[in-house]
Amino acid sequence: MKLQKYKKKIDKTKNTVALPRIRYKMKVVETISNLNTELLKHSNKSIGFVPTMGSLHDGHLSLINYAQLKSEIVIVSIFVNPTQFNDPNDFKNYPSNHKNDLDKLSNEKVDIVFIPKSVNEIYASEKPLKIRLDGIDKVMEGKHRKGHFDGVIRVVSLLFSIVRPQFAFFGEKDYQQLLIIKSIAKEHFKSIEVIGCPTKRDKNGLALSSRNLLLNEDDQKKAINLIKILKHCKSLFNNYDNTKLEKDFFEKLKDFSIPEYFEIREISCLKRVEDKTTKQRAFIAAKIGNIRLIDNIELN
Ligand code: PAF
Repeated sequence: MKLQKYKKKIDKTKNTVALPRIRYKMKVVETISNLNTELLKHSNKSIGFVPTMGSLHDGHLSLINYAQLKSEIVIVSIFVNPTQFNDPNDFKNYPSNHKNDLDKLSNEKVDIVFIPKSVNEIYASEKPLKIRLDGIDKVMEGKHRKGHFDGVIRVVSLLFSIVRPQFAFFGEKDYQQLLIIKSIAKEHFKSIEVIGCPTKRDKNGLALSSRNLLLNEDDQKKAINLIKILKHCKSLFNNYDNTKLEKDFFEKLKDFSIPEYFEIREISCLKRVEDKTTKQRAFIAAKIGNIRLIDNIELN
């Protein structure tokens, strides 16, 4: 990848020479064998890993920035994982633009980008893992996207075994996914610390997502209602019982083409509780046309 060459700059205001930035070269690898060669060069450094499906936005870049604060080397993977799409059209339409992604990653000074050259490159080495999830995979996304988490668990386990990072970063927008990945690490990858990072939002509060690229201007206006509904629920959380809040706020989703769920759940086991002092989050999912959006908010 060609990077703009460093040019010495005189800072006229201070009459000093700006320090040259360390020469930087992002490595892009497509095979596990080339990734291993790169990893060997950094064997005594801490590795932070940000797995993605590409079509990168500021949400991904903020995960990368968290990774850079915590680790010496940052690896990003780009792989649109077919096994986690329960809807073939969603997979077919999932936005992808490697050139754009690599430009963004290079600007962020990511060290290594892993773009598996084929599905087989990732899945050939698969050994099935058993994970105890105590039902956190059965509600909300698990109920509405049958098989989705099975695919996420498969690919994240494979990526963890291939990359072997010390830290792995995931966004709280996919909060249920984050909890499931924490469970995978706790049971099978004890040396990996899974770090949840706050949801990045646009100026209107819409949670950033690669699928937002598929929304037209009118759809985007509609999509902003998701965070408005969540915030409204938060403001009433202490005044009403959760069953009433779930029912009333689900009603507010009727303007979406397909309202899927509005649920209030405890933050670590995702069970329903009524005690207002127990930490809870509200979760929302709805479709605008064919585009499925999710979001969630901390309530207390
Ligand atoms: O959140 C995502 O982008 C994907 O589910 C992940 C974790 C990269 C696995 O494919």
